[in-house]
Amino acid sequence: MFRSMRDAGGGTRLSFTFDGRPLSGREGDTVAASLLANGIAICRETPVSGAPRAPYCLMGVCFDCLVVIDGVGNRQGCLVPLREGMRIETQHGRRQAEEVLG
Ligand code: FES
Repeated sequence: MFRSMRDAGGGTRLSFTFDGRPLSGREGDTVAASLLANGIAICRETPVSGAPRAPYCLMGVCFDCLVVIDGVGNRQGCLVPLREGMRIETQHGRRQAEEVLG
C-alpha cells in the first residue's frame, strides 16, 4: 500500500519490534513511516470507542500516530526517528498515568 520514494535498497537497516514482532526499517525514517513500510497501518485505538487509527498527516498535526515507544505512551510516531532496538507497541486508549512516588 505504501512505498517509500527513496531508493528501495539504500540506507542502513535498523531492527525494531512492533507488539513483539521483529521488523526492520531504514535509518532516517520516522517510526510511523517504518510501520507503514512494514504494512502496519493500525497503531492506536481511541480512548472512548476503541476505534482503530492509523498515521494520517505524517507531520505532527492529527495525533493519529500515537504509539508506545520503549514503554512511554503518547509518542507521535511521525515525529520520532527510528532507532536501533526500539520497542514499539500499539497504544490502547489513553496513555497510562505514571505513578508518582512520594
Ligand atoms: S500522523 Fe498525524 S500527528 Fe503523526
